Amino acid sequence: MPSSSLKLRSILNNPSSLDLTRTWIPLDERPDPTLFVYDSALAKQILRAPTVQTYNLVTYWKIVSGINGETLTAIETLFASTPMFQHGHAHTGTRKRLLALYNDVESQLDLWLPDFCATFFSQAEVERQKNPEEFVGQFLESLIRAILAHHLDCSSASLPDFPKSIFRMMVRANNLREYDRHLAELAANAERMLEKSGQDPEMVWILMSISVMGKEPLFGALLYSILTKPSASVGWDANTLMHHSASVSILGREVIADCNIQDISLKKGQLVHICPFLIHLRDAFLKRSMAVAERAGPSSFSFGFGSHLCPGRKISLKIAQHFLDQMALRPGLVFDTSGLRMTRDFTLASATQT
Ligand code: HEM
Repeated sequence: MPSSSLKLRSILNNPSSLDLTRTWIPLDERPDPTLFVYDSALAKQILRAPTVQTYNLVTYWKIVSGINGETLTAIETLFASTPMFQHGHAHTGTRKRLLALYNDVESQLDLWLPDFCATFFSQAEVERQKNPEEFVGQFLESLIRAILAHHLDCSSASLPDFPKSIFRMMVRANNLREYDRHLAELAANAERMLEKSGQDPEMVWILMSISVMGKEPLFGALLYSILTKPSASVGWDANTLMHHSASVSILGREVIADCNIQDISLKKGQLVHICPFLIHLRDAFLKRSMAVAERAGPSSFSFGFGSHLCPGRKISLKIAQHFLDQMALRPGLVFDTSGLRMTRDFTLASATQT
C-alpha cells in the first residue's frame, strides 16, 4: 500500500496529530506530493477549479489490491456510467438523468418509508443487545432492496443477493472479484425487470448506484449514530448526524493541468485529498459560525461541494430521519457497542473491533 495512504489513514484516525492552524499538508516526500487539504475556503477553490477533476477510485483499488491488469466488468461499468468520475458535458448529462430517477425514488419514499421503518424496528425490538453493525446492515439492505423493488415493480424477495461492501481502503482482490460477480448478477436481473416493466434498461447502472454509492456512506452515518449515542432514546436529528458523521472520508481529486490555487503551485498528475470531517473540525477549532457548523446545511462538507455535490443528499436525510425517529421511539432497543469504535479509512467511516 502506498505510504501516503497509510499516513492518510493514520491522520484520519488520530486527528489530534494534525496542526489545525495549517490549511493543508503534504502526504509524502515527492517533489509534487499528494496534498491533504482540510480548510473549507481552500477546498472550495480546489473543487471549483476546472483544472482539477475526480480521479478513478477503481484504478486505485486495483493497484492497492494487486490486480491492476484485471477487468472488473460490473464495477467498472457502474462507475463509468454514473457521474462520479465523469467531467464536463458527459457529467452534466448523466447527472440530469440520475437526478430524475433519484427524485422519483425520493417522492416514492414518502409513501412507504414510515411503514417500512416502523415494521423493521418493531420486529427488531423483540431481541435485546443487538450488534449495531448487523442491525444497520440489515436495515439498509432491506431498505435498498425495497427501493429497487418499488422501482422495478417486483418483490424484494425476487432480487438476488446484494454485494456486501466495496468502499474500503484495505480492499482485497478476492473481495473485489466477489463484489463484481454479485453486482453483475444484480444488474442483469434489474435490467431484465426494467425491460419487462417498459422502462429504459440503460438506467440499470444509475439504479445500481443507489445500492453502491448510497448504502455505504449511509451505513457509516447510521452506525455513527449508535456508536456515539448508544442509548436509542437519546436522539440526533438527521442534519446534525450527517454533519458530525461526515461518513465519506475523502474527496479524491487529480490535477489535470498545471495551475496555482491560493499560494499552492499544483502540477499535472498531482493528487489532492480533501477531508470533509477534518474541515468541520478545523471550522469548529476556528470557531467560525458555530451555529451553522453544527448542521449539514450549506456550510457542511459532508455531502461534498461543487459539481459533484451528492445527489443522494435528500434521500439520505429522509432515510436517516426516519431511522433516528424510530430509535427515539424505542428505548428498549439496546445495542452491544463494547469493543467497537468508529474508524475512518481512505473512503468511509466505519467501525473496527478494539
Ligand atoms: C450518509 C449518506 C451520504 C453521504 C455522506 C454522501 C456523500 C457524498 C459525497 C461527499 C459525494 C461527493 C464525492 C466527491 O466530490 O468526490 C457524493 C457523491 C455522490 N453520491 Fe453521495 N452520499 C451519501 C448518500 C448517497 C445516496 C443515498 C446516494 C444514492 C441514492 C448517493 C449517490 C451519490 C452519487 C451518484 C454521487 C456522485 C455524484 C457526482 O459525481 O456528480 N449518495 N456523496
